[in-house]
Amino acid sequence: TPDSHVPRDERLVRLTGAHPFNSEAPLDLLYNAGFITPSSLHFVRNHGPVPESTNDVLDWEIEIDGMVERPLKISLRELIEEIEQVTLPVTLVCAGNRRKEQNMVKKGTGFNWGAAGISTSLWTGFLMRDVLRLARPLRGAKYLCMEGCDKLPNGAYGTCIILPWAMDFDRAVMLAWKQNGALLEPDHGRPLRALVPGVIGGRSVKWLKKLTITDSPSKNFYHIYDNRVLPTMVTPEMAKEYQKWWMDERYAIMNLNVQSITTVPEHDSQLKIDGSPDQSFTIRGFAYNGGGIRVGHVEVSLDGGSTWRLASIDYPEDSFRETKVEELFGGEIDMYQRHLCFCWCFWDIKVSVSELANANGILVRAMDVNMSPASKHVLERVFDAYNWWYRVAIRKEGN
Ligand code: MTE
Repeated sequence: TPDSHVPRDERLVRLTGAHPFNSEAPLDLLYNAGFITPSSLHFVRNHGPVPESTNDVLDWEIEIDGMVERPLKISLRELIEEIEQVTLPVTLVCAGNRRKEQNMVKKGTGFNWGAAGISTSLWTGFLMRDVLRLARPLRGAKYLCMEGCDKLPNGAYGTCIILPWAMDFDRAVMLAWKQNGALLEPDHGRPLRALVPGVIGGRSVKWLKKLTITDSPSKNFYHIYDNRVLPTMVTPEMAKEYQKWWMDERYAIMNLNVQSITTVPEHDSQLKIDGSPDQSFTIRGFAYNGGGIRVGHVEVSLDGGSTWRLASIDYPEDSFRETKVEELFGGEIDMYQRHLCFCWCFWDIKVSVSELANANGILVRAMDVNMSPASKHVLERVFDAYNWWYRVAIRKEGN
């Protein structure tokens, strides 16, 4: 098979056929592994075969061209010599995560992701801004286009982000060559990948070969036909017929949206309950959000969404300091400190077993500190930030 050189953990669940490899860990395994996902259990989203030439890591070269004063080629060895390295934990999530639930309501063309298309690694590498500065982007440049070297039916995988993000200190866009203290796993982009924190995984190009600075969005096939949310009234037939839906850059998804998942108890599990009224049960799960914006609160409902109660949240990212990095992987690692949130957080809530026995399923919802998302019946008692559908009543007179 094309990927016979790639080591893989047998516990990963394949989501598509034999090839390409797309997989997620069983949800309980992912959750129990904790804040940092072991590299072998990190979800994998490959559009095609993993490139073979990924062992001469230090000789790996990338090219920087386009609207720059000084186009250049630079090897990983030279990057290590010239640029200070940073390490930080970042949660990657595939934009297709949880698509299985959507496909159950209305089948689309994408394959089924459960809720485990999410993983967190400690990534080490260079800030994109430091790398791009070597080439000196020109005035008027707007986008950073990135391209890998995988051989796909429509060329190599590529996409873009806006240049100000790539250059922003706080957004911490990176070129990573290490994952959890070791070389990147082949499935995750060895020798070098882009890493765009807070943004859907699809923008973090693996097996990175080329950075091009441009004044218009990437024309790469996968940038245009992947990772878009078209307006809701666009049917698959309309999308096929009119290119304009796909070509509109507004519909390219960037920041992740706010999400929350219950992991304990597992879906469809049978709970043994002894019936004593004092017995309690702790419901647990995780939540995440994009754009560096913190998950503000998580709420759980046991009555099908009529009433909600507040869960507590633990943000391991906040306490993740240099000492911990040393404990985990040995050696000195510079932790890159910034104030934005780029990782998942963990929530829990204690309920009585009798409540659970009478529950109408367990619902969970999260809101970020901007209080999105809204839905038509959201929030019984809020005092600000009302963002439900705005309605204007129309009165008819005469006939
Ligand atoms: N980069 C290349 N070169 N080829 C790919 O197929 N898939 C993208 C992105 N980068 C992809 C890629 C998508 S859609 C996602 S969600 C992430 O990689 C997944 O990263 P992971 O496999 O390391 O979890």
